[in-house]
Amino acid sequence: MKTGGAMHAFSCVEDYRQAARRRLTKLAFDYLEGGAEDGDALRRNRDAFAQWGFSPRVLTDTSRTTSETAFWGRKAAAPMAVGPTGLNGLFWPRADELLARAAADAGLPFVLSTASTSLLEDVRAAVPDGELWLQLYVQQDRRIAQNMMQRAREAGFRTLLLTVDTPVHGKRDHDTRNGFKLPLKFTPRLIADCLRHPHWSWQMLAHGAPQLRNIARSVGERADLARHAAMLSRQMDLSLGWHDLDWVRRHWPGEVLVKGVQTVEDARLAQAHGADGIVVSNHGGRQLGSTLAPLEALPPIVEALHASGPPMTVFVDGGVRRGADVAKAVALGASGVLLGRAPLYGVAARGGEGAAGVLALLLAELRITMQLAGCARVDELTPRRLARLPAIRANQANPL
Ligand code: FNR
Repeated sequence: MKTGGAMHAFSCVEDYRQAARRRLTKLAFDYLEGGAEDGDALRRNRDAFAQWGFSPRVLTDTSRTTSETAFWGRKAAAPMAVGPTGLNGLFWPRADELLARAAADAGLPFVLSTASTSLLEDVRAAVPDGELWLQLYVQQDRRIAQNMMQRAREAGFRTLLLTVDTPVHGKRDHDTRNGFKLPLKFTPRLIADCLRHPHWSWQMLAHGAPQLRNIARSVGERADLARHAAMLSRQMDLSLGWHDLDWVRRHWPGEVLVKGVQTVEDARLAQAHGADGIVVSNHGGRQLGSTLAPLEALPPIVEALHASGPPMTVFVDGGVRRGADVAKAVALGASGVLLGRAPLYGVAARGGEGAAGVLALLLAELRITMQLAGCARVDELTPRRLARLPAIRANQANPL
């Protein structure tokens, strides 16, 4: 793996995060990074992982350790997928294609957001060999979602994630403060921000400000793009209910997952309505300001689903920044994790090379964790390999 120039050695996701913070304008970095309201859910997503440590087995022959797994019979290099994030072109030109390429090269699925800045057809052209999934938002005008599903089917997308935790946008104070709106308005504040981040600004000038091209195509070629952005944020179908899962099913022949489930009740409803899986998620802490971390919500959900019906694929996301986090999520019952911000830090820091770098790091860390925990295969990551860590009061007198 390339680790970048002499100035920066990227040895963990946090290194990419720091580089992304340096390169992006404040407006773009805050949009990438921020949580809703006071950021309680965002912080808790990370803290939840720190509640768990490993309970390793030794002398288990780790010579043939593999993180390989499969989703619906299709192989993946690890129980991970690059999750859907909107407006990726704000971080690097053609970031959707770059992330999809990095995922395919790493042997992982890539989920394209409805709010992508590249056309789904262009993403497919960039990764003819890739495992591509589509994330769907449903607007009031159902024809938009219907058209997007049709285009995605024709482009060979396999799996659909229906995101259900965004009937309205969460209250993101940092975006309000920064005056972040689509289309971008070059206020004096943003111009000053741009001058402090010349590489980002030069790229935006050279490639044009990012647009929600995917949804614009599904609305109709000639309508103006600024209106679509506003439409996406304001015109979600607030009447969407569980019966609409059947409507999605009628238009989608592949697997359907419900993304944004946080309770046992809703997980059971997804199962009863024939979903192939769910994503236990609080949208990276960007919607409700305070919730349980998805990692905390996961175990009772997995237990309830096992008890009540056909097997379901259960992803979890929120706060995954280390390979060890992936191992913990799987040990607590997840079939896999979605990566949100982690690959975005990579692409925002160094484009395609950065996206590939982040995925390579996470894969390497997962493998090391499995070897040190004495798990040669993903199915050996079970609750028995984890211990809940009781809080230890730091000894202030002796920091060593
Ligand atoms: C998101 N997320 C998201 N989810 C979705 O279903 N559709 C979308 O368009 C977006 N857009 C989006 C943009 C940005 C900048 C972020 C950070 C996140 C949520 C995403 O899929 C995922 O649930 C979280 O990002 C997971 O948390 P971590 O990994 O970012 O901590």
